[in-house]
Amino acid sequence: MDLLLALLFAVYCLLGCSLAFVPSSNTDLSSLLALKAHITSDPLNLLMKNWTVQTSFCKWVGITCDPLNSRVTGLNISNMQLVGTIPPEIGNLSSLVLLDMNDNSFYGPIPASLFNLSSIQVITLRGNALSSELPTHMCKHSLHNLILLRISFTKLYGQIPSSLGQCSSLQVLSLYNNSLVGEVPKQIGNLTQLTQLYLGFNSLTGDIPKEISHLHMLNSLWMESNKFTGPLHREIGNLTFLRELILYNNNLTGNIPREIGHLNSLETLSMASTGHNELIPKEIGNMTALRHIYLDNNALNGAIPHEIGQLTNLLTLSIDSNKLAGSLPSTLFNMSSVKYISLSHNTLSGTLPREIGNMKELQELYLINNTLTGVIPEEIGGLDKLVALYMNRNKLIGPLPRVFKLKSLTALSLNKNALTGMIPGELFTANIKSIDLSDNHFQGSIPPAIGRSLNLTYLNVANNNLSGSIPSTICKLRFLEFLDLSNNHLQGPLPKCLGELSKSLQVLHLKCLNLSRNNLNGKIPSSIGNAKGLESLDLSSNRLNGEIPQQLTMLIFLSKLNLSVNDLVGEIPQSGWFGKFDNTSFIGNLGLCGFPLTKKCKQVIRSPPPEREDSNFVDEFG
Ligand SMILES: *[C@@H]1O[C@H](CO)[C@@H](O)[C@H](O)[C@H]1NC(C)=O
Ligand SMILES: *[C@@H]1O[C@H](CO)[C@@H](O)[C@H](O)[C@H]1NC(C)=O
Ligand SMILES: *[C@@H]1O[C@H](CO)[C@@H](O)[C@H](O)[C@H]1NC(C)=O
Ligand SMILES: *[C@@H]1O[C@H](CO)[C@@H](O)[C@H](O)[C@H]1NC(C)=O
Ligand SMILES: *[C@@H]1O[C@H](CO)[C@@H](O)[C@H](O)[C@H]1NC(C)=O
Ligand SMILES: *[C@@H]1O[C@H](CO)[C@@H](O)[C@H](O)[C@H]1NC(C)=O
Ligand SMILES: *[C@@H]1O[C@H](CO)[C@@H](O)[C@H](O)[C@H]1NC(C)=O
Ligand SMILES: *[C@@H]1O[C@H](CO)[C@@H](O)[C@H](O)[C@H]1NC(C)=O
Ligand SMILES: *[C@@H]1O[C@H](CO)[C@@H](O)[C@H](O)[C@H]1NC(C)=O
Ligand SMILES: *[C@@H]1O[C@H](CO)[C@@H](O)[C@H](O)[C@H]1NC(C)=O
Ligand SMILES: *[C@@H]1O[C@H](CO)[C@@H](O)[C@H](O)[C@H]1NC(C)=O
Repeated sequence: MDLLLALLFAVYCLLGCSLAFVPSSNTDLSSLLALKAHITSDPLNLLMKNWTVQTSFCKWVGITCDPLNSRVTGLNISNMQLVGTIPPEIGNLSSLVLLDMNDNSFYGPIPASLFNLSSIQVITLRGNALSSELPTHMCKHSLHNLILLRISFTKLYGQIPSSLGQCSSLQVLSLYNNSLVGEVPKQIGNLTQLTQLYLGFNSLTGDIPKEISHLHMLNSLWMESNKFTGPLHREIGNLTFLRELILYNNNLTGNIPREIGHLNSLETLSMASTGHNELIPKEIGNMTALRHIYLDNNALNGAIPHEIGQLTNLLTLSIDSNKLAGSLPSTLFNMSSVKYISLSHNTLSGTLPREIGNMKELQELYLINNTLTGVIPEEIGGLDKLVALYMNRNKLIGPLPRVFKLKSLTALSLNKNALTGMIPGELFTANIKSIDLSDNHFQGSIPPAIGRSLNLTYLNVANNNLSGSIPSTICKLRFLEFLDLSNNHLQGPLPKCLGELSKSLQVLHLKCLNLSRNNLNGKIPSSIGNAKGLESLDLSSNRLNGEIPQQLTMLIFLSKLNLSVNDLVGEIPQSGWFGKFDNTSFIGNLGLCGFPLTKKCKQVIRSPPPEREDSNFVDEFG
């Protein structure tokens, strides 16, 4: 009989029942109206227009009701640009199962009454300005059905209450990106249904509790950017379902436990800047599901274990800024899946193994600032997908392989090595954007093929033994911003087009031009005045002659100018901003005169009245 009545009532409600007859629904109505009354801004007019007493609240936007008793079971007002506070009356929605207020601008405290809802399964309040502490007894009375609790990207403060351990149905807990302090309570180990735990970006202290290893269902553990100290307990190896272990930016001590090797479901191991030292355990080779390894900026030492070569799913290996030593294991460079390797700022030695040619998927390789020796293997030329190759600051010798035509390469940095031979023309592909070969022993001339690299923005070949003249094809480089050819044996005139480098398409790219310490001669082309974006110009220590073109004074962004030690003659242009350069910009040119040099110009030769006034003015004041 009861059932029949309930069914009839449900049908009646589906047709739009009058809720006045159901007292508990009345409470729900007043709770929702209280919530509406606490909203101070509703720019999309969602609640203001829709939540009106003329319609049953079960039909209001964001509300779901139980059809049998017309009680509110779901309140989902996520992402509605609402501003306001949450009134304590929300705790009267005693049939509420799902509460989603994500991505609004609710502020003020989270009412404690919310944590008294015994039927609630989902609470998600991500991305609000809510500021409060979590109630000490939050899971003591109710919340036994709570499956998901997400209060992230808000302003929670205070400690994580130990009673949280009594929310025993929790599967997802996120308190990510708040201002929580204190230790993570041991009782968290009681949440044995947890699959995802996000506590990153808080100010939590103490150690990462051993009890976390009881959470054997855990898939994701994010504890990064806190102030955790102490060791990473070996019991972490019990979390065999773990797929993400994110601990970066903490202050842990000791080694990475060998037991980590049991985590054979782990895909992401993110432990940069955790403070770990000692060896990388060779058991890492057992973690065959690994796709991403980040161990940068620690104090790991010893060699890279060759077992790492067993990780056939690996995409990312990033262990820069540690104390790794020994040679690069050839197994490492045999992994055909890897896309990104960064081992910069270690003390790795030995040569680059030929196996590198097997890394067909490799896109980025960073081996900066190690002590690698030997030649660059020819096989590197077969890495069709390589986009960035940085091996600067090593002890590499020999020539660049002739097959150096890496189609996808956009950035090449080999500066500060001991490389010899010619710069191969093949290097200048259509895709390359940045080349740094400075501080080596390259010889021969700059290949005219440079004109093919229309996207080149950065070229630095300073401090080599290059000779010949600057190829005129350099003028085709439309996007060049930085050109440093200094300290070589280049000769002949400056290409007339230098200013044109930045003129085309009316885009002003060239910012820095350094041709100093060569044997360049001829005049400074007046077209240089077209390089309107030029900030730094160094033509010093060449054999340039003629006058300084007036057009240089049009370069209003020029903050560094060095024309010293050349054969320039005539009066230094006297215009407003040219006056900011002191005599070090001009000394060593016996034929130059006028401010800022002390040598005065003979007025007879050229004396435009305003300039004369200027120079007199300056002369009076030294
Ligand atoms: C309120 O919103 C719901 C869901 O979008 C819609 O079905 C209903 O017609 C709206 N009611 C009013 C009065 O605007
Ligand atoms: C709330 O509604 C949004 C938009 O319809 C939806 O994407 C989201 O999944 C809902 N939240 C929950 C917890 O179901
Ligand atoms: C609803 O909640 C408020 C504050 O928590 C309380 O004062 C009030 O008595 C409740 N109203 C009903 C009808 O239960
Ligand atoms: C929560 O429920 C407990 C037990 O019923 C009660 O003692 C407490 O006052 C309630 N707290 C709030 C904020 O409603
Ligand atoms: C943390 O949240 C703040 C805003 O609440 C945001 O500015 C910041 O980028 C977030 N940090 C991270 C790492 O997501
Ligand atoms: C909860 O955790 C504490 C501390 O780890 C433990 O002493 C207690 O037995 C656990 N309770 C349950 C019900 O598992
Ligand atoms: C947890 O890890 C410890 C240390 O590695 C081990 O002795 C223990 O047997 C493991 N417990 C379970 C339940 O696997
Ligand atoms: C890290 O911990 C050590 C002691 O273990 C301490 O000396 C150091 O100040 C801590 N660093 C930070 C950034 O907390
Ligand atoms: C784990 O690694 C060690 C050392 O590399 C090896 O001896 C052992 O057989 C591996 N265990 C498994 C299960 O692969
Ligand atoms: C590299 O891989 C090839 C083919 O799988 C294999 O024959 C060779 O032994 C491997 N070399 C190393 C050093 O692992
Ligand atoms: C090179 O790496 C060492 C660590 O091996 C580091 O101390 C040093 O600062 C690095 N030098 C540069 C120029 O980055």
